[in-house]
Amino acid sequence: MPKLLVTNRSGQETAVEVGDGLTVMEAIRDNGFDELLALCGGCCSCATCHVHVDPLFADKLPEMSEDEDDLLESSDHRAETSRLSCQIPFTPDLDGLKVTIAPED
Ligand code: FES
Repeated sequence: MPKLLVTNRSGQETAVEVGDGLTVMEAIRDNGFDELLALCGGCCSCATCHVHVDPLFADKLPEMSEDEDDLLESSDHRAETSRLSCQIPFTPDLDGLKVTIAPED
């Protein structure tokens, strides 16, 4: 199974295996990272699934929608590499993707 590498807010990295059809948010949430609240359940309306993505994978990510962009704009921790993890389906070509859970707003 493809792997996702998640760094939590303490800087600890953990590899998780990601099943078919999950988003990056679901993979993180379902593996017990309670720092990632994902309050809206993935419908792009809360921004509590904010992550910073390894720039090496930038080309492989889906385009950012206007809604995602607007929500990220409300975060004090927005960076070049910011994404909402519920908006990234974990496709096999993202194997090895590294994400860091963004600080809490
Ligand atoms: S889970 Fe709410 S925006 Fe991603």
